[in-house]
Amino acid sequence: MCGIVGYIGDKQAVPVLMDGLRRLEYRGYDSAGIAVLDNGSLHESKSVGKLSILENMLKDHPLSGKVGIGHTRWATHGRPSDDNAHPHSDCKHEIAVVHNGIIENYMKLKKMLVAEGHVFVSETDTEVLAHLIEKYYEDNLLSAVRHALQNVEGSFAIGVISIREPGCIVAARRYSPLVLGLGEGENILASDIPAFLPYTKEAMLINDDELVLITKDKAEISTLSGEPVERESFQVLWDAKMAEKGGYKHFMLKEIFEQPQVVADTLTGRLTDDNRISLAETGFQDELWKKINKVFIVACGTAYHAGMVGKYLIEEIARLPVEVDLASEFRYRNPIVDENSLVIAISQSGETADTLAAAKEAKSKGAKLLSICNVMGSSLTRESDGVLYTRAGIEVGVAATKTFIAQLIALYLISYYAGHLRGNVPEADLNAFCSEIRRIPRYIDQILVSHDEIKNLAKLFQKKTDFLYLGRNIQYPIALEGALKLKEISYIHAEGYAAGEMKHGPIALIDENVPVLAIAPRGPNYDKIISNIKEVKARDAESIGVVSDGDNEAQHHFDHIFTVPGTSYLLSPILMTVPLQLLAYYIADKKGTDVDQPRNLAKSVTVE
Ligand code: G6P
Repeated sequence: MCGIVGYIGDKQAVPVLMDGLRRLEYRGYDSAGIAVLDNGSLHESKSVGKLSILENMLKDHPLSGKVGIGHTRWATHGRPSDDNAHPHSDCKHEIAVVHNGIIENYMKLKKMLVAEGHVFVSETDTEVLAHLIEKYYEDNLLSAVRHALQNVEGSFAIGVISIREPGCIVAARRYSPLVLGLGEGENILASDIPAFLPYTKEAMLINDDELVLITKDKAEISTLSGEPVERESFQVLWDAKMAEKGGYKHFMLKEIFEQPQVVADTLTGRLTDDNRISLAETGFQDELWKKINKVFIVACGTAYHAGMVGKYLIEEIARLPVEVDLASEFRYRNPIVDENSLVIAISQSGETADTLAAAKEAKSKGAKLLSICNVMGSSLTRESDGVLYTRAGIEVGVAATKTFIAQLIALYLISYYAGHLRGNVPEADLNAFCSEIRRIPRYIDQILVSHDEIKNLAKLFQKKTDFLYLGRNIQYPIALEGALKLKEISYIHAEGYAAGEMKHGPIALIDENVPVLAIAPRGPNYDKIISNIKEVKARDAESIGVVSDGDNEAQHHFDHIFTVPGTSYLLSPILMTVPLQLLAYYIADKKGTDVDQPRNLAKSVTVE
């Protein structure tokens, strides 16, 4: 999983490529490199490590040229190293290739190419592409790339340049994202739209098994078998400024503070003035919602935690049985899915390989596929029978925050919509829900205003090495999410646990060095979680309670409390999440970790 970019036009390519790579760095940052064509030669610069290293190299040894490709890498085949950094070249150093994806049959291809005399310099799967293109190159780069890709198994989004055809870039995709930015006298290819937003807002999607010949004035798409393809371009509504930090120290903090707006945006048009829910955009007819007899939710990472909340919601509100699975497990357990099943795939990026594969698996068994996704035109949305977009805007911080909240909102809408349609939600309940969820942005604002309280808590706990998060019922996934946030960005070991399970294992870990955070809003199970906290305190652990406003007892039970506005128990997970995001953020910031790009992680994991 990596980011690719390519530029052809009248400008110098290097600044545009570097700018694009900076916006794609969330996709991986093990190494970076660029190659440009200039005066009949191929020049490249690449290095292991973050983009800033490449930037410094280019300051010392500038490259010029108006055609080029670039890459930021998240290593899959071959460790992060200078040799394994992209672009990769052929034997004659005439062709350069950048690639996101995995060539699954690369060992076989490499063996064949080596036997034919090709010399490899890296351990990557990508290098076979450069040599295959060299092998098939007669007088036409597009044909050579097509021929090469016909021999390739696996996933790819590639950009290819050759000194023999300096007026073009050839790009192609299969199961990895690729999009074009169409400018005036210049065109840009990239893994993701933000890479070209400063230059153009006119975009064009490339589909699986398509190639595109890009010159400075046009982009011609054709299939892998050679048929020409007509494709409309579209205008991107995102503003490049949305992807900037807007005065916050980190994108993650900015994104946490955007959450009131994100909730409001995700509700817009879906809640009517007379307190009804409209999900017409999914294209799902009422009959379909009534016919479903089982729901499966598949997702990874933070989106999986949203899915776990979704299970509680859909079962409680719509009275439909729900199974929620990690996408990477779902496809390998032969799930019992049929045409009466609804599969909900949740993914911020819409490109997560495991989620895509699970969704496809369910579809192949006849299920209807509804996706909850943040990226328009992403692979998942194109596979889906219907899409409910989260309107969170670009999320740059690798640790998901605002998109999680937006996913929850989408799941509330689905639960109440289906529940009402199926006769399980009386008018009065629907009315109450619609009125209360409209207040959520204001409640989140109130939490954010008190962020200094969390900052102070963070100071007390930044030196801890272990943390336990407890929740019950619908708060259990929030405990998992809180622990995930902390470990992702602060590298502190943290476990989320169903509070009732604590006595079956984690209690053995507890002593004065292991703080325990409990998510304890007023509502069902409040007394039970307080009992769990008493067990913890009896073992000398320091306790933190995230509790509802007006809970006057809480201060007697916890060493530290943070209060969130009171709301209905079912809606409380949204509010409970925000202090946990802030706590993880401020602890990580105090520790000085790379909050927006934590080590070993990537924003979007497009390999299995
Ligand atoms: C990566 C990210 C996580 C994210 C997960 C699923 O691991 O670091 O933050 O939750 O992928 O991504 P998706 O785009 O499918 O929501």
